[in-house]
Amino acid sequence: MEQVKVLLNESEMPRQWYNVQADLPTPLAPPFHPATMEIATPEQMNVIFPMSLLEQEMSPQMYWDIPDEVMQVLALWRPTPLQRAMRLEKALGTPARIYFKNESVSPAGSHKPNTAVPQAYYNKQAGIKRIATETGAGQWGSAMSLACGMFGLDCTVYMVRVSFDQKPYRKSIINTWGAEIFASPSEQTNSGRAALADNPNHPGSLGLAISEAVEDAATRDDTNYALGSVLNHVCLHQTIIGEEAIRQMNKIGEKPDVVIGCIGGGSNFAGISFPYVREKIKGMDVRILAVEPASCPTVTKGLYAYDYGDTAHLAPIVLMHTLGHTFVPPGIHAGGLRYHGMSPLVSRLAEDKLIEAIAVPQLECFEAGLLFARTEGIVPAPESTHAIRGAVIEAMKAKEEGKERVILFNLSGHGHFDMSAYDAYLAGQLSNYEYPQAMVDEALSKLPKVTLPGM
Ligand SMILES: Cc1ncc(COP(=O)(O)O)c(C=O)c1O
Repeated sequence: MEQVKVLLNESEMPRQWYNVQADLPTPLAPPFHPATMEIATPEQMNVIFPMSLLEQEMSPQMYWDIPDEVMQVLALWRPTPLQRAMRLEKALGTPARIYFKNESVSPAGSHKPNTAVPQAYYNKQAGIKRIATETGAGQWGSAMSLACGMFGLDCTVYMVRVSFDQKPYRKSIINTWGAEIFASPSEQTNSGRAALADNPNHPGSLGLAISEAVEDAATRDDTNYALGSVLNHVCLHQTIIGEEAIRQMNKIGEKPDVVIGCIGGGSNFAGISFPYVREKIKGMDVRILAVEPASCPTVTKGLYAYDYGDTAHLAPIVLMHTLGHTFVPPGIHAGGLRYHGMSPLVSRLAEDKLIEAIAVPQLECFEAGLLFARTEGIVPAPESTHAIRGAVIEAMKAKEEGKERVILFNLSGHGHFDMSAYDAYLAGQLSNYEYPQAMVDEALSKLPKVTLPGM
């Protein structure tokens, strides 16, 4: 029998997160405060984030110890398996060996608890009683409600309305773990009420839900905000995925030729790939590929520019790939990939050509997701089907070239809460949507103007 899973013992779990900021060829540009339009200080951001997370956000320190209390909760499902997708390889007739890191085994069904747990922990340490957050597809809101419950914090989730309606059981699981949830735009905040006044049928967007959660946190002393992606400390916490993957690949004497992840805000991709970016900088011959939806093509069609993180101009202004903060993406089923911006770290690495990005249409992704479900058994989250599609493209290239190639991708989550998306696909009701350049240009004309000192 051939080995399918490569497992680590709990004692082999990485004890540190890796900070790619330490190895960047070009340092990150500083964030700006949305009200003053000056460089944001940690003291200003301390209104919504604890200092410990801000230190991780801004520090170039290469490694951070994972606190024991965090390790203890992560050990409920970590280390996650590295699996060889042999049945998928066979179906594709490829000489490539395809491996995937299975992040769907977490209680919330995705990689998101890897950062929700430390974020809840550090907020608890700082004396915070309640977390306000947003969620797109519902994965992050579930993860944060789970993590808050583990550390005795209250949690309020603002969920993008289109996903709230598409995925009713996300609300149920968030309530089950003890958090409250509102469809966004909601009547709870000024940002939500303004959006509803403008359009009572507003489908919501991640940028708008972020505005609601930030406003909630900024107006209450006992409450902080938590973001599930984009920020440096979020990417940092996710690197446990790649650190485990390196150990697992070493165990079987394999080295990936290409490492693949889907990108919404960039965090699961950062998780699997940043430890490999470190190896690449040290000389490893590896390609690193980010896969985004053609309907929200942030890295492949967006501009590398300073932009607001949210629609209501409450979140910091950061230098990143962006489609413009006024961009409202179509209601595709990969709700977690509908963000107008991208992690500044992922964006910087793309500018420095250490990583590549491609945009793929929705139907090809569902086709790849269905093939994966029927060969490997796991029904992938619609977001994760983008990484699978990337792996299939690479595997078919290997077949054409007659080359053995080692492909590693991150299965960021399962799709058990997304079955209405599969129903729609199987009923032939889904279509492709390529975001028109004219609309990208229109949104990009509304970027904020900030000036770096000395420029
Ligand atoms: C399963 C899954 N994968 C990927 C993503 C995209 O986010 P990120 O790019 O931060 O990993 C999400 C976001 O909600 C998600 O739920």
